[in-house]
Amino acid sequence: MKNLISFLIKILVINFFIGFSGAHADDLLKIYSERQPMLIEPLLNEFESQTGIDVEWIYSKKGLVQKIILEKDKPVADVFLASDISRLIDVAEAGASIKINNSSAVPSHLQSDNWIGLTQRARIIYVNKDLGLNDITYEDLVSEKYKGRICTRSGFHPYNVSLFASLMAHHGEEWLENYLINLKANLARKPQGNDRDQVKAIYAGVCDLSIGNHYYYFKMLNNEEQKIWLEKATIVFPNQKDRGTHVNISGIALLKESSREKSEKLLDFLVSQKAQAIYANDNNEFPVSPDVPLSDGVNELAGGAKFDNIDLLKIAENRKAVINILNKINYDE
Ligand SMILES: [Fe+2]
Repeated sequence: MKNLISFLIKILVINFFIGFSGAHADDLLKIYSERQPMLIEPLLNEFESQTGIDVEWIYSKKGLVQKIILEKDKPVADVFLASDISRLIDVAEAGASIKINNSSAVPSHLQSDNWIGLTQRARIIYVNKDLGLNDITYEDLVSEKYKGRICTRSGFHPYNVSLFASLMAHHGEEWLENYLINLKANLARKPQGNDRDQVKAIYAGVCDLSIGNHYYYFKMLNNEEQKIWLEKATIVFPNQKDRGTHVNISGIALLKESSREKSEKLLDFLVSQKAQAIYANDNNEFPVSPDVPLSDGVNELAGGAKFDNIDLLKIAENRKAVINILNKINYDE
């Protein structure tokens, strides 16, 4: 009941605050975006000038999946730009996205019938520089020697759920339950904040290791207030000696049959070399298109890094089991 109430409040808040302008509705391509304005704006400007299609978009970090599902019989937006595989799958499982053709520009393990990956983001480990670590695995985080030295955001955040789901795919459900019990036991404090807050905690001496997405390193580096945190912390791409680092995707789903043609143009644009280069350079993400170079910063830190190329659908399948375990062991409490 509590969940239902907070869900309804979320929906109300979103409906109250956001809505498309309604002007010339038929000519517009309408987008719900979890990707930030700073990133989306240059991409969509370029798309508008290339195609002459006008775009209107709404950005929200939270609640768009619920909104899309609620509207599925009468979709308001044409396209959904998601920041994580789990959101794309939630929308697909609810029957709120339409079937799309595979894109030849994107490797097959990064797409499905209902969504296509647009960028890859690595879930890496931030470490206190004093540890002198340049090689670590996700499995190492439960080692006795890191007791009380690890910080994470909520275990239930989609970024963590996807990482844990990948660990389950490699080691099994029982193993994961043990792993999460031990990881919780190694935490320096109750899970809280976002990925960057964990790096701040390393700077503050609260912990020595944290889990976070790789591009936040560059966001902090370019932030006057936050760059000081990186005096203490650096990043390590885990599991380089075995299967490689876990990667998640941001991606696109199409929501409306009647605007398929316009939406497919956007999809084609977003996987084009030009758009992929904007993603790589403006947000330091890994392009899905293998021909597009990494940004200089990423190339310096992670050029040649090995990624776990496990099927994302396998990760999706494990999500419910992961959430059950997190609830069972009370990971956040
Ligand atoms: Fe993010």
